[in-house]
Amino acid sequence: MSRLIEKIKAKASADIKRIVLPEGDEKRTVQAAAILKKEGLAEPVLIGVPSAVNETAASVGADITGIEIIDPAASDKASSYADTLYELRKAKGVTPEDAVKLVADPMYFGIMMIKCGDADGLVSGAVHTTGDMLRPALQIIKTKPEMKVVSSSFLMDCPNPDLGEDGLLVYADCVVMPCPTAEELAYIAVATADTAKRLCGFTEPRVAMLSFSTKGSAKHDLVSKVQEAVAKAHELAPDLLLDGEMQFDAALVPEIGQSKAPGSPVAGRANILVFPDLQAGNIGYKITQRIGGAECFAVLQGLNAPCNDLSRGCSVEDIVNTVAMTAVQAQDS
Ligand code: ACO
Repeated sequence: MSRLIEKIKAKASADIKRIVLPEGDEKRTVQAAAILKKEGLAEPVLIGVPSAVNETAASVGADITGIEIIDPAASDKASSYADTLYELRKAKGVTPEDAVKLVADPMYFGIMMIKCGDADGLVSGAVHTTGDMLRPALQIIKTKPEMKVVSSSFLMDCPNPDLGEDGLLVYADCVVMPCPTAEELAYIAVATADTAKRLCGFTEPRVAMLSFSTKGSAKHDLVSKVQEAVAKAHELAPDLLLDGEMQFDAALVPEIGQSKAPGSPVAGRANILVFPDLQAGNIGYKITQRIGGAECFAVLQGLNAPCNDLSRGCSVEDIVNTVAMTAVQAQDS
């Protein structure tokens, strides 16, 4: 098991949080719920029709004794959730009838449980796409008041201990914002430093704002955008060690960092890498994972309560790990 996940699991079990799994009748999800309960990592709540959930559990040999199963169609909370959802979304054209229908959807039901204080966090995506999972969270849970956007952090546990923090690097944004503005990029950087502190225990986050240019070596509108993001991030978090724009190698390799960005507090020793857009971030994390041999663990950041996405190809272990990370985020939120 990754050292990072070991630490996260220990933290999760020290203060158990109630985490909703809307895909409650999905095989891997049911198996993960059984492990989470047995290992005391979280209190999982499965959304689904009890007979279907129990049938799935029996088919995979998962012991889900003592795990709560909630069927939105039979829940006595459904009508108050629909009323609250209507109030929250009426300005966006949602009618009372729409709200009733939406709450019957396990994803919206799970999100409403969090909104109404009946759960601490949510993990989904073994069946649903990222967009299906994200949209209700963005619409209802919303961003934290001090944060402008929701984004993601990828915790990259690399085999080379010389990189980042003893081999641990945090990448952003690799999932959410296709084309962030300079200001949004600055908020992503600040949110990622916070995630790195909370989940990875970084005592000194050092953020490199990545580009194809280092400190003005190239001139282009794309480079100017990253430079603007650096200035904005300094305004948002004056004490954060953050620098850029810089190339990937200047961020990570001490000799290259010193020669291309002399005097930078970050160059050559970054432990957080902020990519300029989603194409770069998503490709970058996959290269690090597939060619670099890193294990990676993803979380969303900036939401008012933690909701996390899975990949549809996820394993039971991936779900357990993501729930443990969600539980730790819930402890701190
Ligand atoms: N932060 C905060 N709020 C947001 C954000 C954001 N990043 N993006 C959208 N919103 C809000 C909007 O303001 C809107 O709120 P409102 O309805 O109250 O006005 C609501 O969310 C819905 O916004 P839309 O613009 O209708 O949503 P959209 O259809 O653009 O979907 C989404 C947003 C799902 C995040 C979209 O940007 C997206 O698809 N991103 C890429 C996801 C993806 O496919 N990632 C790569 C694959 S995952 C992987 O490889 C691991």
